[in-house]
Amino acid sequence: MTQTMKEPVHVVAICGSLRLNSYTALMLKIALRGAAEVGAETKLIQLKEYQLAFCDGNKDERHYPPDVARLRQEIQQAQGIILGTPEYHGSYSGVLKNALDLMGFKEFEGKMLGLVGVSGGGMGALNALNGLRTVGRALHAWVIPEQVGLSTAWKQFDQTGQIQDKELEGRLLDLGRQVARFAYLHTSKQSLEFLKLWESAPPNPGGD
Ligand SMILES: Cc1cc2nc3c(=O)[nH]c(=O)nc-3n(C[C@H](O)[C@H](O)[C@H](O)COP(=O)(O)O)c2cc1C
Repeated sequence: MTQTMKEPVHVVAICGSLRLNSYTALMLKIALRGAAEVGAETKLIQLKEYQLAFCDGNKDERHYPPDVARLRQEIQQAQGIILGTPEYHGSYSGVLKNALDLMGFKEFEGKMLGLVGVSGGGMGALNALNGLRTVGRALHAWVIPEQVGLSTAWKQFDQTGQIQDKELEGRLLDLGRQVARFAYLHTSKQSLEFLKLWESAPPNPGGD
C-alpha cells in the first residue's frame, strides 16, 4: 500500500543485540520497510554504534557520554518506535534495558510502540516480548497488540540475510505498517481534536 502521509511520521527501531549480523537487526529492517511503505521516515538505531553508560539514576548526568543525549534526541523525534530484542535467559537483553533506562516519558509517552523478538531456541521470544510490553506500559506508550516473535532464528535466514518464510516477512511488514499508521492517526490534527472532545464529553452522554 502506498498511502501518503501529509506530514510523514518518524518511525525508529532500536536493536537490542550488539552481535554482528544480528537476526534481530534483520527483522527490524523488514519491519521498517513496512513503515516506509506507508510513508513513514525510518531509521534503524544500532546500539553498538552508541557509546552509552550504565544508567545510574543520578540527577546530575554531566558524566554521561554525549551519545546518551544523541540517543534521547533521536527517540524524541520519533512518533513510532519498534523495539527489537533477542531472548536472553528468558527475557529481553540487558543492552536494551539499559538503553531504555537511560530514557523515559520524554522519549516514550504517547508514542506508538511495536515489539519484535528473536530466539535461538524453539520456545520463541515470548518472555522477552511480554517483558517489553510491561516496560512499554510503564513508559505510557501505546504498545500495539500485534507483535512478532521468531524461534530458531539461525534457520530462518539464508547466507545473504534474506528471510526464508514469506508469511513471517509479511507479519513483520505489517507490524511496521501498523506502528506507522497508528502513529500517524494518533498525531494527526483531527484525531487530537477528537481525543480532546472525547475527554471533555460528559461521562454518560446518552443517558441511561
Ligand atoms: C546471553 C545469552 C542468553 C541467551 N538466552 C537464550 C534463551 O533464554 N532462550 C533462547 O531461545 N535463546 C537464547 N539465546 C540465544 C539467542 O536468543 C539467539 O542467539 C539470538 O539469535 C540472538 O539474537 P541476535 O541474532 O539478534 O544477536 C541466548 C544468547 C545469549 C548470548
